[in-house]
Amino acid sequence: MRRYFAATTQRMEALAKQEIERFGAEKVNTSFRGVYFSCGTETLYKICYQSRLISRIFAPIYRFEAPDKDALYEGAMQVDWLRYFRHVDQTFAIDGNIYNSKINHSKYIALRVKDAVADWFRDRIGRRPYVETNNPDLRFHVHLRNDIATINFDVTNGTLQKRGYRSDSVEAPLSEHLAAACLDVSGWKGDVPFVDLMCGSGTFGIEAALLASQKPAGSFRKKWGFEQTPDFQPKLWRQVREAADAKIRSITAPIIGCDIDAAAVTAARQNARRAGFADAIEFRHSSFQDLQLPETPGVIFVNPPYGIRLGADIEEVALLYNKIGDFFKQKAQGWRAFVFTGNLDLVSAIRLKPSRRHIFYNGPLESRLLEYEIY
Ligand SMILES: C[S@@+](CC[C@H](N)C(=O)[O-])C[C@H]1O[C@@H](n2cnc3c(N)ncnc32)[C@H](O)[C@@H]1O
Repeated sequence: MRRYFAATTQRMEALAKQEIERFGAEKVNTSFRGVYFSCGTETLYKICYQSRLISRIFAPIYRFEAPDKDALYEGAMQVDWLRYFRHVDQTFAIDGNIYNSKINHSKYIALRVKDAVADWFRDRIGRRPYVETNNPDLRFHVHLRNDIATINFDVTNGTLQKRGYRSDSVEAPLSEHLAAACLDVSGWKGDVPFVDLMCGSGTFGIEAALLASQKPAGSFRKKWGFEQTPDFQPKLWRQVREAADAKIRSITAPIIGCDIDAAAVTAARQNARRAGFADAIEFRHSSFQDLQLPETPGVIFVNPPYGIRLGADIEEVALLYNKIGDFFKQKAQGWRAFVFTGNLDLVSAIRLKPSRRHIFYNGPLESRLLEYEIY
């Protein structure tokens, strides 16, 4: 049993806690933008492979006082780096962040710890591992807070939010784990139709398909940090993946996305194909106003433009929100509708009273997921 920190986005902590508990982790405590938890290797592998809500997992390695650069270097020299490196030819990267400390440059803490890793290996075996910032075998993260440094091993090797099915050819896509969190809040389980009125790159539809099929969100990922360490258990990792893959089921309710922009629809179709859902999701090129909803009521999602870009015509965007409200009233009786927006001033333009509101952060932007029950 070991202690870990799963990073997530502000306001997603409670949802991430529930998810991690479902996988069997213990002593799960929320913190700012993350969740601390304890578990053994099998549960860790399950979380890595199947979590839809967390963006990264760190394993704290060593915590020490680091009021200055020398103390930081000396602390990093105390780590037994061969618990993490299998051999000196593995590449590595170090990043860092600082809160309220005397050392005040995050690039600098990463550099000092890199020096320590290089010297530690040189002292012992006469050679050093090389730094590779873009695609390293191993990543470490140094967190300096109130002059206390924590060196963490990056278990996932980078962020899980980019699951690997999407090419970023469309403007303003939602991050995959934020879309997954919105779906969790909606309570949709895949048994009734799911419609995204403004699908963009198709994130909601593809995340809905992942949820409905129970396809593991980690199944697209090629590289994990834990696979590179001496204590990696390949047999257990294969068993965890096989057990999760065996639960994948076929999608029964329609999943539909539409967008007025032809390029967005093309990107959404390509992304769905990459995710393995070419036949499970129907993407249409049309304005949402021309969309005929399935007869059986289900759930509507819409992430309209926010109108906050330079040069955006805010009256035109407000009109679009009016039309969304009209569509709900005229064509979506019996449906539950969810609007995700980062522009709170435009919410009143929908001209319907939301039954629930959830605050999320889309990057730095405070956003709302609004729920409407349409009678
Ligand atoms: C904020 S983006 C949606 C991003 C999407 N959630 C994603 O993850 O990629 C808003 C989308 O609304 C689309 N849109 C704007 N007006 C529309 C309309 N009348 N009907 C359908 N789509 C529309 C835009 O083309 C754009 O792709």
